[in-house]
Parts: sequence; C-alpha cells; structure tokens
Amino acid sequence: MTTAPRIACRGVGKSLPSGGRELVILQDVTLEIAAGESVAVLGPSGSGKSTLLGLLAGLDRPTRGSVLVDGTPLESLDEDALALLRRRSIGFVFQSFQLLGNLTARENVLLPLELLRRGDARARADELLAQVGLAERGHHYPSQLSGGEQQRVALARAFGPRPPILLADEPTGNLDAESGRRALDLLFELRERQGTTLVLVTHDPQVARRAGRRLHVQGGRLVRDERDGDDAGADGRGPAAQDDGRAQNADDAASGAPGP
Ligand SMILES: Nc1ncnc2c1ncn2[C@@H]1O[C@H](COP(=O)(O)OP(=O)(O)OP(=O)(O)O)[C@@H](O)[C@H]1O
Ligand SMILES: [Mg+2]
Repeated sequence: MTTAPRIACRGVGKSLPSGGRELVILQDVTLEIAAGESVAVLGPSGSGKSTLLGLLAGLDRPTRGSVLVDGTPLESLDEDALALLRRRSIGFVFQSFQLLGNLTARENVLLPLELLRRGDARARADELLAQVGLAERGHHYPSQLSGGEQQRVALARAFGPRPPILLADEPTGNLDAESGRRALDLLFELRERQGTTLVLVTHDPQVARRAGRRLHVQGGRLVRDERDGDDAGADGRGPAAQDDGRAQNADDAASGAPGP
C-alpha cells in the first residue's frame, strides 16, 4: 500500500474575473509534498505565492484542478468539514498576521487550543509566548505590539495545536536577523520533533536554504522544483551557500532561544 502525499496539487489554477476579462493568478500547478518535507516557495512579488499557500490550506478554492490533503480532495469537503480539517491539521501564518485585534496576544494564542479543547491550553499558550520571546507581552493587544512582535504571536498561534502541516507566508518578513533566526529555529524544531510538513513563502535566501526543497513560482506558474541532492547547484557551493559561516557564527549571539 502506498501512502498518499501529505499535500498534492493536480492541475491547480486560480482565475478571477477582472473588468469583464479573466485574470489568471495561478495556472497548471501540479506537485506533491510528502509528510515531513520542508519546502520554500520563492518568486517575485505578485507571482502567486500567497495565492498558492491559501489554496494548499483550503482557505481559498481553486477555479481549476484539485488540492488534496492526505489524499482527500478539498473540494469534496463542505465548509464545516474544511474548517475542522484546518483546525486539526493545518497551522497557517498569514503574511499580514491576521491576529484578532480585540484579543490579547495570549488570547490569540489560546483560542485555537481552546477550540480543540486542549486541557493544557493555558500552560501551552504561556510556553509558546515564552518560546517566541514574548512572555512579558501576553496581556498586550496586537495594536500595542510592533509588526515583528505581532508576527511572533502569529507564529505561536500557528504552532499551538502542533499541526501536522504548517504553512507560513513570509514568517520572518518583519523580523530582524536574530528574531528571524529564532522563529525559523522554532519552525524547523517543530518539523524535526513532530515530522511537521513545512511550506514557507520567503524572499530570504537563508530561509530558502534551510528548506530541503524550493519551489520557484513565476507569473502564476511553477517554473522550477529544486530539491537538496538535485544536480543543479547541489554541491553546496552556489551563491546562496557563501555566507554559511556567518550564519553559523550568528548562533553565538542567540540568547533566550528555545532549548532543544
Ligand atoms: N482577490 C484578488 N483580486 C484581484 N487580484 C488578486 C486577488 N488576489 C490576488 N490577486 C493578484 O494575484 C497576483 C498574485 O498575488 P499573490 O498575493 O499570490 O502574490 P505573491 O507572490 O504572494 O506576492 P508578494 O510577494 O507581493 O506577497 C497579484 O497580481 C495579485 O494582485
Ligand atoms: Mg504574498
């Protein structure tokens, strides 16, 4: 028996009506992502990265083709079933955070845990806030937090239920180098400890390099699917590998990073 890929896209496209014409945002995307893979999605602004991520999460529906999670075509699910699948299986970090403004940071992190009726919800929320360096800021509302702090709350919220799939749209886009590195450590730790499937949209070569696979999107199409170990640039000597030494040394500066 073969197991279904954790996520699959079959001929996925997304178009929108625009001024009497059809605006094609994404076309003909076919790919499979295995359980436990880490994938970076790269491409110019407007190329369709966020759209693709939203489709993988079932937040948006394709106009063509099918997205499957663990072999289940998402179009076969009604809104309730889709919401349940998302709550249980998919953590999502939005490019724009999408924290609930009338809830504190701690309440934002707590909400998905309470929806899942987690007995240890409060302790887990506090642990997560501490892991993203915001133990002292839990009582603050999103409007009282900086962009980077809101992004870290959004990460903590997504990690909370330990989802088997974590999709993050530029999760380090608003963070300084050190906070970004810590957030990534958290993401990759989650993957190592729990076999989480990670899909990250990023413009940052350092983030892309940490993923085992890179999907390049251009003009709404998947133009390149590159894995570690592939021939092209797989000798580790490509331009992206040049500042590895510096990246390693930056570890020394880590204080308060979550332990193993
Ligand atoms: N609801 C919408 N209505 C009209 N156009 C849209 C809509 N959603 C996305 N688009 C368009 O689709 C294209 C792809 O958008 P998307 O947000 O996926 O890009 P992106 O690759 O994530 O870009 P960025 O790096 O700037 O975040 C853009 O040209 C965008 O303007
Ligand atoms: Mg985007």
